[in-house]
Amino acid sequence: MTTIVVAMGEKNEIGFENQLLWHLPKDLKHFKDITSGHPVIMGRKTYESIGKPLPNRTNIVVSRKNDWFEEGILIVGSIKEAIKFAKKIDEEIFIIGGGNIYEQTMDIADRLEVTLVKADLTADTFFPEIDQKTWKKTNEVCHEKDEKNTYDFCFQTFEKVKSE
Ligand SMILES: NC(=O)c1ccc[n+]([C@@H]2O[C@H](COP(=O)([O-])OP(=O)(O)OC[C@H]3O[C@@H](n4cnc5c(N)ncnc54)[C@H](OP(=O)(O)O)[C@@H]3O)[C@@H](O)[C@H]2O)c1
Repeated sequence: MTTIVVAMGEKNEIGFENQLLWHLPKDLKHFKDITSGHPVIMGRKTYESIGKPLPNRTNIVVSRKNDWFEEGILIVGSIKEAIKFAKKIDEEIFIIGGGNIYEQTMDIADRLEVTLVKADLTADTFFPEIDQKTWKKTNEVCHEKDEKNTYDFCFQTFEKVKSE
C-alpha cells in the first residue's frame, strides 16, 4: 500500500516559503503514529524544511542534484527509484510531500491520509485537487481547536476507487 500523507487548509494550501502553515501538535503525533516504522519518501525541499532525518523511519529523499549529500538519509534521483527502494524495505510506504512530489504521485498512490485544517491561509504550495471520481472518503475524525492546537481540523482517509 502506498499512502500519501498531507495536512492542508481549506484551499488545499500546504506551505509557504518552505515552511508549514500551522503548528498542530495533535497532527504531528498523528503523522508520527501512522508513519513510524515505515519508509517515508519526500522531495529535497521538504527534507530541507524538516532539517533532519525523521527518526524510526527510512528517509528516502528525491533530488536531481548529483552533488548533494546528507548523513542519515537515502538520496535517489527519481520517484520511481524511491518507490523501488521503499518497497524493498516494507509493503507499507508513505509519501510525505511536498507539493511537487504530491503532483507526481497522486496517480500511483492507493490511499490518502489528509488532515484538513479549517483555515484559509496565504500559501505558495498546494495539494492537488482530490477528484471525487477517483477518491472515496472512507473515514473522518474531527477535533476542535484547543489552547495548543489553534485550528479545528479533521483526519480524513481516502481510498482510490478501483476501476472495474
Ligand atoms: N502540509 C503538509 O502536509 C506538507 C508536507 C510536506 C511539505 N510541505 C510543504 O511543502 C513545501 C515544499 O514543497 P515543494 O513542492 O516546494 O517541494 P518538494 O516537493 O518537497 O521538493 C521538490 C524537489 O524534489 C526534487 N524532485 C521533485 N521531483 C523529482 C523527480 N521526479 N526526480 C528527482 N527529483 C525530484 C527536486 O529536488 P532538487 O531541486 O534537489 O533536484 C525538487 O526541487 C514546503 O512549504 C513544505 O513545508 C507541506
